[in-house]
Amino acid sequence: MTDVSPRHVGTTSDEEEAAYLEVALTEAQAGHETQHAPEPAPEPAARETVLVLDYGSQYTRLIARRIRECHVYCEILPPTTPWAEIAARQPKGVVLSGGPASVYDPGAPSAPDELWRSGIPVLGVCYGMGLLARGFGGEMARMERREYGPATIEVESSPTALTPRPMANWTADPYPRDRRSSAPLPDAGEGETIDSGVGDDKRLPSPLEGEIDAVAPLPRTGRAGWAVDSAESRDQSAWGGGEGIFAGLPAQIPVWMSHGDSLARLPEGFRVLARTPSGVAAIGDAAGHVGLQFHPEVVHTTGGLTIIDNFLKRLCGCAGTWTPANVVDESVARIRAQVGAGHVICALSGGVDSAVAATLIARAIGDQLTCVFVDNGLLRHDEAKQLMDTFEQHLRIPVVHVDASERFLTRLAGVEDPEEKRRIIGHEFIAVFAAEAQRLREEGTEIDFLAQGTLYPDVIESAGHDTVNAARIKTHHNVGGLPEDLPFTLVEPLRYLFKDEVRLVGVALGLPERMVYRQPFPGPGLAIRVIGPIAKERLDTLRAADAIVVDEVRKAGLYRTLWQSFAILTPIKSVGVMGDERTYHDVVAVRAVTSDDAMTADWARLPYDVLAAISNRIVNEVPGVNRVVYDISSKPPSTIEWE
Ligand code: XMP
Repeated sequence: MTDVSPRHVGTTSDEEEAAYLEVALTEAQAGHETQHAPEPAPEPAARETVLVLDYGSQYTRLIARRIRECHVYCEILPPTTPWAEIAARQPKGVVLSGGPASVYDPGAPSAPDELWRSGIPVLGVCYGMGLLARGFGGEMARMERREYGPATIEVESSPTALTPRPMANWTADPYPRDRRSSAPLPDAGEGETIDSGVGDDKRLPSPLEGEIDAVAPLPRTGRAGWAVDSAESRDQSAWGGGEGIFAGLPAQIPVWMSHGDSLARLPEGFRVLARTPSGVAAIGDAAGHVGLQFHPEVVHTTGGLTIIDNFLKRLCGCAGTWTPANVVDESVARIRAQVGAGHVICALSGGVDSAVAATLIARAIGDQLTCVFVDNGLLRHDEAKQLMDTFEQHLRIPVVHVDASERFLTRLAGVEDPEEKRRIIGHEFIAVFAAEAQRLREEGTEIDFLAQGTLYPDVIESAGHDTVNAARIKTHHNVGGLPEDLPFTLVEPLRYLFKDEVRLVGVALGLPERMVYRQPFPGPGLAIRVIGPIAKERLDTLRAADAIVVDEVRKAGLYRTLWQSFAILTPIKSVGVMGDERTYHDVVAVRAVTSDDAMTADWARLPYDVLAAISNRIVNEVPGVNRVVYDISSKPPSTIEWE
């Protein structure tokens, strides 16, 4: 048996079970040669993609999220990504994130030079604006004090007439012929070079395609290195008005600033688009290169989403087709291409990730998928039944239901130490799956693929972004040393999605709301919420109390605003009085927390009447409980779970 180290980490049961399953399958397949389908070929750029180069801002992921909210697919890449890899993705636009460095710091991360010459629209945010300005020959200056916090910008003009530069330096023609604009290139302004070396053929499709005739003539942008406060830069007349990066927004916009460098000299061909009393807030040129000194991605910037949407739709020419329905279609096609005639096994945990992954795979390959659900007897009230009903009756996806609850409870009997509980549960999970995989094999089903619910944040974290969330503790898949050569290939249909996108895809697939919006639940389940030794009766007591907590939280409309809300069965007995009788019964604790990522959490200020209803119902409806307490500890220093 492969050793499984104990752990207590911020992850969901889905991820934990998937990792266990890898071990289990490896054991089941030991000694057997498996035929592998080839890895899928890199995807063609069937969908419009925007790239975010990550310079270490805490908001980088937020930029990616906002772009996707505008229905444009987006990937985050480290700034060290070679140009060939960037070009291979055929981006419709590139965003340069903020970052802690100054562009003048020795060794400060830069952007590939080819980007400036490529004709691809670029949005530089804070540090990214510094890179953009310098990339086009402007100058930044270090501010004496970093500008941080709220400010109001005054919009000066907008790049209505933005027209893409001609494409250069593409290794291959990225756009199909029918997407290219047949409109003529604009005249170059004095001093503005339009590299026509590659010709019309390689032009990016215009963001104003079809409207190009209606656009005001380009301004003359000839003076090299405009002074920031030049009268010309404040002349709005040449720019028309209303359209462009600030289209649809008022002249004054409250924004969130955070930068240590400011613009000292405009690059050639650029104009000042907005200012604050202390300096330049936005610049842009006629080719879709825009620099913002503030963060459009944070909620403190009013209309920030509109600014991002303007960049995507007006400057990059994106249509915005990244929708859950399209994701389903794309995923199904990709899974079919990858799996071919192979067979996939998928572990269902009751969580949303495995449910969505399984449903997508089932849609793609039907009965080439075997779903396995190991019931460890540690799930919440009715959970196992709901899972089976959803899959078998509602979705018509057959599931192998392995009721292993007796086996788990027997192994856990008398065990008090939380890490020992986790270790046992991990071992048993693997043993049960290995046996199941072996049984399938003996019945003639070769398993070629293992489905995993890997999400995009895991992909980003393991992609070697040394600047991304450096402080985040990477703990996924540390369940125990996985064998180097796994005898099967992973199918990861969710690896391009954030968690809330997985949920939207789940909705699009017809999964019930309860499953799609289920709060996270730990892999070891109720075993780590019955404090001390586990016995069936104690699990039943906890299940009944927990169901009341969830019910009242739902009735109050709070279920989805809380990260987690649940009951804990403490090992304490306390004195109570019921009628004329003195009781000496169990104490149940209630835990409800708000959190973004489980790394930190705050105890939820539940309304008193919700707490009162929970307490009354638990002592009245759950035999053996005479006291309810509410946990008012935050993480850190406390953890979310009690064990
Ligand atoms: P803590 O208690 O560490 O929990 O603040 C953070 C998040 O992780 C979940 N959790 C686990 N998930 N296996 C899991 O799959 C575990 O052993 C485990 N322990 C805690 C917890 O529910 C919370 O969401």
